[in-house]
Amino acid sequence: MTATPLISFVGAGPGAPDLITLRGAARLAAADVVVWASSLVPADLLSHAGNGAVVFDSATMTLEDVLAVYEANPDAAIVRLHSGDPSLYGAIQEQIDWCLAHERSFEIVPGVSSLAAAAAAVGRELTIPTVTQSVVVTRLANRTSASMPERESIGAFAATGCTLAVFLSAARPDALQAALLEAPSAYGPDTPAVVVVRASWPDEQVVATTVSQLADALRSTGATTTALVLVGDALTGTAARSHLYSPDFAHGHRRRSLSGSTAGRPARRRARRG
Ligand SMILES: C[S@@+](CC[C@H](N)C(=O)[O-])C[C@H]1O[C@@H](n2cnc3c(N)ncnc32)[C@H](O)[C@@H]1O
Repeated sequence: MTATPLISFVGAGPGAPDLITLRGAARLAAADVVVWASSLVPADLLSHAGNGAVVFDSATMTLEDVLAVYEANPDAAIVRLHSGDPSLYGAIQEQIDWCLAHERSFEIVPGVSSLAAAAAAVGRELTIPTVTQSVVVTRLANRTSASMPERESIGAFAATGCTLAVFLSAARPDALQAALLEAPSAYGPDTPAVVVVRASWPDEQVVATTVSQLADALRSTGATTTALVLVGDALTGTAARSHLYSPDFAHGHRRRSLSGSTAGRPARRRARRG
């Protein structure tokens, strides 16, 4: 990578045009060429691009087609717009490998994943002290089952009882429900689950359910894509208090306080008021 990357793999965020990062929006504004996935990224995101940008829709393109666009535009500022954060199911590694093999400079601009947007839509923290401190991002093995390592079954992760974020699996509701309850799963029929469809889009849906009702809940949304399923006990109930803000827990930025308060001093005053 050089100081002037020409191919930017940009995370578009979960869908709302104001959930792209400032850097991502700036790269779009400066782009000569934009390749975006209309199937996953709403057209509103293109409002960040300049009028002169040439736009390609990757929904109808193969990897070879996309690479041909890169090849044909060696001096252009290219943005490849991926949904959410490109590091999750973004299929960017094969493009990065091409960039390295062809000595094309590139960068990755992170984005807000649909995982974060779904948790926000549900209004929950996913790592609750004493309940679970782990989130596993996974998927059912679908048509791409050959690329799914066997040891990574939904059942294997469910055995830990952690919060599970299941991507790319809405089209197989019964298989997902069955996998979540398969031995040695730590989930039971009453374990909470939430289906979040099109998190942050104008037509966002949030359906709270349990594992035993998950397949019906998924079907009720009518969604087979752009849906995320969250599972685990972190999704309901109140939290045990975290150590981080406990008065008797000292750390590099705060002393232990026997009175229970550290007086809540502002870290920095505003220069001027009014
Ligand atoms: C190819 S993956 C891309 C994931 C993306 N890189 C991310 O960080 O969110 C597409 C899957 O992500 C999930 N997804 C993407 N955007 C979503 C959204 N706005 N709401 C719910 N799920 C979404 C769905 O499971 C969808 O099938």
